[in-house]
Amino acid sequence: MKFNRSIVLKRRPRGIPALEDFELRTASLRPLEEAEILLEHLFLSIDPAIRGWMADKKSYLPPIALGEPIRSGTLSRIAESRDPRFPVGTLVQAIAAWEERSIVRGEAIMGEIKRIPGIPLAAHLSVLGGNGLTAYFGLFEIGRPQPGETVVITAAAGGVGMVASQLAKIHGARVIGIAGGEEKKRFLLEDLGLDCAIDYKNEDVNAALKAAAPRGIDVFFDSVGGELLEIGLARLALRGRIVLCGAISQIHEETPPAGPRNYVQLLAKRGRMEGFVTLDYAKRYDEARAILADHIRSGALVHRDEIVSGLEHTPQHFLRLFDGSHRGKLMVQLQPSGEEIDDNDRS
Ligand SMILES: NC(=O)c1ccc[n+]([C@@H]2O[C@H](COP(=O)([O-])OP(=O)(O)OC[C@H]3O[C@@H](n4cnc5c(N)ncnc54)[C@H](OP(=O)(O)O)[C@@H]3O)[C@@H](O)[C@H]2O)c1
Repeated sequence: MKFNRSIVLKRRPRGIPALEDFELRTASLRPLEEAEILLEHLFLSIDPAIRGWMADKKSYLPPIALGEPIRSGTLSRIAESRDPRFPVGTLVQAIAAWEERSIVRGEAIMGEIKRIPGIPLAAHLSVLGGNGLTAYFGLFEIGRPQPGETVVITAAAGGVGMVASQLAKIHGARVIGIAGGEEKKRFLLEDLGLDCAIDYKNEDVNAALKAAAPRGIDVFFDSVGGELLEIGLARLALRGRIVLCGAISQIHEETPPAGPRNYVQLLAKRGRMEGFVTLDYAKRYDEARAILADHIRSGALVHRDEIVSGLEHTPQHFLRLFDGSHRGKLMVQLQPSGEEIDDNDRS
């Protein structure tokens, strides 16, 4: 009999999640039923969205039930299949869970991972996965920057933000990144080559933006919400666009605060604020991945991944999302064979 280890939701977090909200469980793996697929996970994706799914709130996906494995993006290999559309051995990107193996149906599979030579397997889940795709569709479908326009990115040193910042720069925009701390500010300026960087923890963001973008912000790509969103609204240029990517500053609030207080700026500036969900663009992932891969190969797009090994370390790694200590996309590697696949594919 095969066993499976999972990290389950033991209790719903109040505020910032704690290790006590999770539990490692071992259970036997049942045989597949008709149309089911067994995924063996190689990498788990650690994302702020998971915090949203842990709350008992309605969203674009239902909340994770208590006692159920924590839902997560994964990079997985099909180990068994009773759905002829998904052959054994295929590498896929899926919405599955923090566990060694998951039994899913076809709807959970977001697409085949077509390995891009020279790019590490894990990067197919980060810069070529949820982060890169979110940055690409949010920026070009919602923000639509024009060359020469001013683009401001919040959480600019995070997984999505660092890709969005660089894509905007490649596209010819003037890019200002906002992040917390001196080290992240240096990263934005020196490693990503942004035009300006603002440390929101130690600087007056409103004053810094006024100085850096005196004619206003054309595209405000926002992953943070709250106070930074209000500043973005206040400094919006005429016909400016706000890309509502996320609201990480409010993710732990039981009752979200009212606001933004100055939303009427949209009226005065004839502005637009629009949200999006990356999953809606699944049919166009390959198109975006090809463009992102070209930028990586040319050296125009850099990325940082922080990977730990072992399912048991997943909750601890997840908590780093909220303390400002991580320096790139967080992932957990589950199978040493992940790297073997890398090497085999290259040969
Ligand atoms: N719309 C979609 O379909 C979609 C898909 C994926 C992700 N998202 C959203 O995209 C955003 C970024 O995701 P990610 O995967 O790039 O996460 P990430 O790598 O963790 O980046 C998020 C960053 O947010 C910053 N942050 C955390 N709390 C903050 C606060 N209170 N105020 C200001 N900054 C704060 C932290 O950087 P500092 O150290 O600089 O504070 C953190 O590194 C999230 O809001 C997520 O929900 C949306």
